[in-house]
Amino acid sequence: MNEIIQKSLPYKKYVVDDRLQYFKPHATKIEKTFADEVFFSLNQNSKYIHPKFFYDKKGSALFEKICELPEYYPTRTEIEILRNLKLDLVDYLDDSFRLVELGSGSSVKTRLILDIFSQIQNDLEYFPIDISEILTESSEILQQDYPTLRITGIIDTYEGGLDFIEKYDDKKNLIIFLGSSFGNFSPDEGKVFLRQINEIMKKEDLFLIGLDLVKEKNILESAYDDSQGVTAQFNLNVLSRINDELDADFVLNNFEHVAKYNEKDQRVEMYLKSLVSQSVIISKANLSIHLKQGELIHTEHSHKYHLTQIQNLMNETGFIIKQTWTDKKENYALTLVSKK
Ligand code: AVI
Repeated sequence: MNEIIQKSLPYKKYVVDDRLQYFKPHATKIEKTFADEVFFSLNQNSKYIHPKFFYDKKGSALFEKICELPEYYPTRTEIEILRNLKLDLVDYLDDSFRLVELGSGSSVKTRLILDIFSQIQNDLEYFPIDISEILTESSEILQQDYPTLRITGIIDTYEGGLDFIEKYDDKKNLIIFLGSSFGNFSPDEGKVFLRQINEIMKKEDLFLIGLDLVKEKNILESAYDDSQGVTAQFNLNVLSRINDELDADFVLNNFEHVAKYNEKDQRVEMYLKSLVSQSVIISKANLSIHLKQGELIHTEHSHKYHLTQIQNLMNETGFIIKQTWTDKKENYALTLVSKK
């Protein structure tokens, strides 16, 4: 990367060796954002905590566990589709593409795409973008298994990471956004985000997005309220994180995990329900809140789509669909697009 651009980016560079480097925003920036956002979102009448805060080290590990639950079908369905699309995807690539992944995700999926790259490239280049430091561990493991792989990790929000990619160089990118993570945006935020991806993309770049499709309510609700209680732990962990990082005194036993499917808005909604009337102090956010018994803190929306809605969404945000792949039951879709 050009030295001047590098200096203008608010990142610290960590070089592990000649095949592995990370960029991370200055620590004070991350801490301030977390405290500010929590102050704002828990100070509302309808309280919420942004789902990006789920992913500290423990939250990321719990999410990996969710992906293996029998009830949580999206991960294994997406993997099945990725295994089947190998031959199709390779036709869209050449040896000048690098892989950019939004949310560095489960290494199984990354490996499936890297294997497709290996069919046509000797020197693979991978740029994972993830808010969680878990990225550093998964990158080191990947590097052991792909001896020619060069990794540049960006430990930041998706928006920060995209900005970084745009300024980095002129190489062609296949950007992947898997796991239906897009479903966690509100419809308006989602469109803004897709337009941002579109804007930073060069004409030859490609974008592959995985989205969960609408299906029966009971399948959706058990995927987000599993019998082993892992999703409940994942949801409650955000309160532990606030306790640890912002010096708060949430009592986790005073909260219950809630997940319900809202058919009209086509989304699973997750909440933390206050089981008692209680006050909580969040010292580093300079905030004291009161929660009534039964009051809900919203933590996540997970939107589900019809295939026609995906087509319209892509069209509206400046993309052309190259190809869409689904599983046989049409539970899940992967869509490859380019810029119009
Ligand atoms: C990361 N994201 C796409 C997951 C989802 O399905 O919305 C997060 C999740 N929440 C509960 N279970 C999984």
